[in-house]
Amino acid sequence: MPQVAWLFLVYTTNPPKRRSNLSYTVIARRWRPQRFDDVVGQPHIITTLKNSIKAGRIAHAFLFTGPRGVGKTSLARILAKAVNCVNGPTAEPCNVCENCVGIASGNFVDVIEIDAASTRGIDDIKELRETVRYLPMKAAYKVYILDEAHMLTDQARNAFLKTLEEPPGHNIFILATTELQKIPYTIMSRCQRFDFRRITEKEIVEQLKAICKKDGITFDEGAFHHVAVEADGSMRDAESILEQIIAYSGQHISEGDVINIIGVVEKEVIHRIVRSVLTKDLKDGLSAIETTLGEGYDVNQVYRGLVSYLRNMMIVKAVGGLPDFITMGEDEYKALSALIADVEYYEVQNMLYYMLRSEDLMRGLFPRIALETLYINLYNLSQIRDVEKVIGELERGEPQASRAGERIQKAGYREQDTGSRERDTGDGRQEAEGDVSHAPTAPSREENASATGGSQAGEGAHGFVEYLKKKKPFLGSMFDSCECSVEGDDLTVLVDKKYGNFIKSEFEEVRRLTSEFFGRAMNVEFRDAGDRKKNILEEYVKEADSLFNL
Ligand SMILES: Nc1ncnc2c1ncn2[C@@H]1O[C@H](COP(=O)(O)OP(=O)(O)OP(=O)(O)O)[C@@H](O)[C@H]1O
Ligand SMILES: [Mg+2]
Repeated sequence: MPQVAWLFLVYTTNPPKRRSNLSYTVIARRWRPQRFDDVVGQPHIITTLKNSIKAGRIAHAFLFTGPRGVGKTSLARILAKAVNCVNGPTAEPCNVCENCVGIASGNFVDVIEIDAASTRGIDDIKELRETVRYLPMKAAYKVYILDEAHMLTDQARNAFLKTLEEPPGHNIFILATTELQKIPYTIMSRCQRFDFRRITEKEIVEQLKAICKKDGITFDEGAFHHVAVEADGSMRDAESILEQIIAYSGQHISEGDVINIIGVVEKEVIHRIVRSVLTKDLKDGLSAIETTLGEGYDVNQVYRGLVSYLRNMMIVKAVGGLPDFITMGEDEYKALSALIADVEYYEVQNMLYYMLRSEDLMRGLFPRIALETLYINLYNLSQIRDVEKVIGELERGEPQASRAGERIQKAGYREQDTGSRERDTGDGRQEAEGDVSHAPTAPSREENASATGGSQAGEGAHGFVEYLKKKKPFLGSMFDSCECSVEGDDLTVLVDKKYGNFIKSEFEEVRRLTSEFFGRAMNVEFRDAGDRKKNILEEYVKEADSLFNL
């Protein structure tokens, strides 16, 4: 027995050497923001909170909502420190006083963190109602941080309402949730609500770089972009992935390591697949998918890569450049820009929309087949777009129609099906041109313009749409689906119902640009495209069908 006591003594006074490793703290915890200004990506919330503390107007109930790992709990603790620091209430808690240190470690008697996922019943809330009556023991306020607040049972929630509405003055409640839709209005309306946003890729990349620099770890410039994409707006997720990568890579993190660890499909492959859709190289796209899956990538990684790439394409096309919230290497940007040069904005949008809508398919029993089907449908979508383009051009009586016809002829299914049919039909260009010449011709924009005084090509409605596309690419691309005509000083736009609301909201801008383009004040009228357009379209669809002998 004395021997056992002796052993115990040795153990407690001489802890084994490995103990320092055991007490390793993960990055996400080590990097928990300790001051308001450490919190990344939530400036709207930080400013409001700091100002209200400075003004001495501290609410008694807060609701922090937003996706996982974006700083809700961290900020709740900072707020608790701000009101309870020995220098407080202050927007700059000292982080060294007993109160601040205790709160930061989650171990302070007056800051009570409750996990509503496990402490959610009526009895727990009754107990809480009791404790709120007592004064804080050490600090100025008792702060209750109620995590996962949406998990409270109905009964518990109802019991809680009264406390939340009029808590004794020394209490502050901070409710945090990732599922705002499950928080009833009765709770919401009693709290000051702060919506946390996802952290942007750029912010995540910067934070990961800062962490590595501080820890003396070197990295390839492009390495963290993939982590940021994978983390999907969550800083905690990004830091956890970084943890894993460091364990694998050691002192230097290469882009290759990152790609290996997260299993990101290389951008070049995704680029190749998207390019194959736009250049109508079905075989190349399918073989890129086949090779990638053969290398052991998961079908869903290819799917996510495609969605992410199309999203970047859509944004770059819409804003006419690379916005600073998208991180992209120079080469990647060049390749992407080249790809979207000849593509309409809404073509990309349609592709992305289609991919997003099909997400459920990817969760089915046959994800691989689903992916191939999605890919082929994307391809078909771009074929339809070609038909739409021809229709649009025919409608406007534009000479490009013949070239577009030629593209369809060259890229159409018949060519894909058999080479012999192509030989049968001979020169696609001739055939396409011949067919187009038989198509009904609507009055062209130039005709409209010249009939009314705008004599030069480019001065009519068509010229205006081209001008608009340069000045406002997003709006301009929508005008492509609208019929515009000019008569004297009147510009009439038959607004396609797909874009109706947006185009109409830009009325003043369109008017300003018309006078800039035509050099005189124009009367602009927006009309709904309605049935007239539908009839014309139907007529041309028949004509287009005959191009394919359908
Ligand atoms: N906005 C941020 N700025 C800096 N680091 C952050 C931010 N958000 C999260 N982190 C990092 O992620 C870790 C977890 O953050 P936190 O617990 O605040 O997230 P949360 O929003 O409460 O997530 P959950 O909804 O999953 O509870 C922090 O310790 C920190 O390392
Ligand atoms: Mg939390």
